[in-house]
Amino acid sequence: MLILGLESSCDETAAALVTGDRQVLAHRLAGQEAAHAPYGGVVPEIAARAHVEALAPLVEAALADAGVTLDQVDAIAATAGPGLIGGVMVGLVTGKALAHAAGKPLVAVNHLEGHALSPRLSDPDLGFPYLLLLVSGGHCQLLLVEGVGRYRRLATTIDDAAGEAFDKTAKLLGLGFPGGPAVERAAANGDPFKVPLPRPLKGAAEPHFSFAGLKSAVARAVEDYSAEDLSASFQQAVIDCLVDRTQRALAVAPEATTLVVAGGVAANSAVRAALRGLAEAHGRRFVAPPLWLCTDNAAMIAWAGAERFAAGISDPLDIPARPRWPL
Ligand code: KG4
Ligand code: ZN
Repeated sequence: MLILGLESSCDETAAALVTGDRQVLAHRLAGQEAAHAPYGGVVPEIAARAHVEALAPLVEAALADAGVTLDQVDAIAATAGPGLIGGVMVGLVTGKALAHAAGKPLVAVNHLEGHALSPRLSDPDLGFPYLLLLVSGGHCQLLLVEGVGRYRRLATTIDDAAGEAFDKTAKLLGLGFPGGPAVERAAANGDPFKVPLPRPLKGAAEPHFSFAGLKSAVARAVEDYSAEDLSASFQQAVIDCLVDRTQRALAVAPEATTLVVAGGVAANSAVRAALRGLAEAHGRRFVAPPLWLCTDNAAMIAWAGAERFAAGISDPLDIPARPRWPL
């Protein structure tokens, strides 16, 4: 089985070719950092326009990398939401056009399902069920992944997502955009216990998250500490919250023998190390996808498409793009 995947829901345009037996034959990606950097965040109109320009050449390049033609593809998977609606429409309409022209089935993929199933692309031994900490720019959730299309949400954020907190902190500290990697780099030269910062919801019974208060505390401390110490202390506070909340979820999900982390924030090495330690302390296996598969990409969309297609699922060509689409 060969699946073409398309991703365009935020600020990465991407195309990939993935097989049903987990081979990534091609994965192409065009970031838009330079276009958004002057505004300190993603501007939806600029993003949508950039996706229009980048996507078709990326599809051609990915097909050439894999040495295949569209005729050899079994299905086309495109992100249909959630995300910035202009961008989602670009990828979904492109997927529909290719599917229609080549006479191939379309699989409309939920971007969150792409993140949720991506660890199964890199780890063939990862079976269901598993406890997933999904930490990205738009989401912060704990999910019990019971099967393809079967996700039980145990917790979510009551305000900001973890990646959003990294991005806002980077902006406050003048570290630029995108914020997560910049904060991680600055944190490497700082003291994680220098700045007293809150751990919102730590110890709460329900495993929900909250990061807005942490960001406000960083804003109040900006004058008094270095960007390095603030970055390190902020990152430590986020990690303490993620570990505490995930520990709470592990307790209510004994059937999950594996703890999995996915999404852009999972690219942070301190976050990965802390969660690995938590899993080991609780006798659970730990799985995190390689860094390139954590941040947005089309291989995870192709793979989620492959999993859905293998389960007999495809979608009509009039399926709408959805800005909001809970798993
Ligand atoms: O999954 P993703 O690429 O896009 C969304 O679906 O949101 O996640 C992007 C988020 C951004 O907030 C970015 O700052 C964060 O992931 N991120 C990181 C790191 N790399 C990306 N956060 C912390 N440390 C990193 N190394
Ligand atoms: Zn994402």
